[in-house]
Amino acid sequence: KKVVLAYSGGLDTSVIIPWLKEHYNNCEVIAACADLGQGDELEPVHDKALKTGASKCYIMDLKEEFISDYVWPTVKAGAVYEKKYLLGTSFARPLIAKKLVEIAEKEGADAIAHGATGKGNDQVRFELSVKALAPQLAIIAPWREWELRSRDQEIDYAAAHNIPIPVSHDHDYSMDRNMWHLSHEGSDLEDPWNAPKDELFIVTNIPEKAPDKPEYVELEYVEGVPVSVNGEKLSPAKLVEKLNEIGIRNAVGITDMVEDRLVGMKSRGVYENPAGAIIYYGHNDLENLCLDRATQSFKQQVSIRYSELVYDGMWFSPLREALDAFVNETQKTVTGTVRMKLYKGNIYSAGVKSPYSLYSQEYVTFGEDEVYNQADATGFINLFGLPLKVRALMKKGNLK
Ligand code: ARG
Ligand code: SIN
Repeated sequence: KKVVLAYSGGLDTSVIIPWLKEHYNNCEVIAACADLGQGDELEPVHDKALKTGASKCYIMDLKEEFISDYVWPTVKAGAVYEKKYLLGTSFARPLIAKKLVEIAEKEGADAIAHGATGKGNDQVRFELSVKALAPQLAIIAPWREWELRSRDQEIDYAAAHNIPIPVSHDHDYSMDRNMWHLSHEGSDLEDPWNAPKDELFIVTNIPEKAPDKPEYVELEYVEGVPVSVNGEKLSPAKLVEKLNEIGIRNAVGITDMVEDRLVGMKSRGVYENPAGAIIYYGHNDLENLCLDRATQSFKQQVSIRYSELVYDGMWFSPLREALDAFVNETQKTVTGTVRMKLYKGNIYSAGVKSPYSLYSQEYVTFGEDEVYNQADATGFINLFGLPLKVRALMKKGNLK
C-alpha cells in the first residue's frame, strides 16, 4: 500500500508519517510539499520528510500556476467571501490536491492523506478535489481517526517515535501561508472581542509603523488580470511579490473577521494579504469605469456565488467553469491602468484610465454640452415613476 501525503514539514504532517505506517500496515508514505511562496526553506523539508520515514519527498514549485490558474480567475470574478476574505487558503487546496493526485497516479498509490482537522474547511476542499479528479483514490484524514487531541500529545507522540519536530513553540496560532496570504486562527483570537496583538503580524507592517508619506502605485490590467506594476511587466507570481513589498511597507491588506465555516460553526480569522488588497481595489475601480451598469450589477451576484464555491472547495465543479465563462466575457474590456495612493493601511483611488472607458465627460459635464437634452428626462421620469404614481393614487382612492 502506498499513500501520498500533503506534507509541509510542520508538526502535524510530521507526526502523520509514522502514524500512517503504524496504522496502515507499514505502508509506503510519499511526501509531497507544495511551494506556494510560503517563504519557508524547502531544502530542509525534503531531508526531514525522509528522516521522518517517507520513502520520497516531492517539492513542487507551484507559484506561477497558483497565481495564474487559481488566483486570477477569482480576482476576475471579484470573489470575496463574506465581504472580507480574499480566499487565500481556499483556492490553494484544490491546486495542492490536483498535484497529489498526479503524484498518486504516477506512483501507483492507493490513497491520499492530509493533515487538516475534522472541524474545518480544508478537509472538505482537499477531499472534494480528490473526488472530482480521482474518485478511485482512498482518502485518509488522521485528525478524524487518531487519539491525539492536542499539540502536546502530538509532541509526545513525535518524541516517542524519534521524529525531529520543529523546536519552536513560537506561535500558538494555526497559520496557513502562501504568497497570496497568511491566515491566523486560534489562541487569543478565539475571543472575537480580543484585538489582534501587534506581534501577530508577520507579513505586513502595522499602520503605526508605516511611512508618514503616501506611496503611489500604478497597476495595469489586461482583460481583468494585472500585468504590470509602475510600468514594469511582470509574471503573475513576480507581480504579486512586487505588490506585496509595496503593500507591506504601507501596511495595507489586514483583514480581521468572524466567518462562517462550511461545517457550520463560526470562526475568527486575521488575514494578511497586502498584494491582494491592492489588486482587488484596482480591479474594482477599473470595472467601475469599463463595465455597463447592468453587467456590473449582475456580476456582483456572481461574485458572491463564486466566493462561496471557492470557499466550499467546489473548485473542480461545472458551476465554476460556467461562471468562469460569464466572468471572462465581462473581462474583455477590463483593460487599463489604475493609480492608487497607499497611506498607513489605507488605499485611495488616485486615477484610472482605459481604452474601453465608458466614461464620457461630454455627457456628464456640469458645463455646457451638445449631446444631452435635459428635457428628455421629463418623459423618462414619468414612465420610470409610473408604478409608484399608480400605487399612490390607488392608496388615496383616486385610481380610476
Ligand atoms: N479560515 C480560512 C479558510 O477556511 C483559513 C484556513 C486556514 N487553514 C489552516 N489550515 N490554518 O479558508
Ligand atoms: C483545519 O481545520 O485544518 C484548519 C481550519 C480550516 O480548515 O478551516
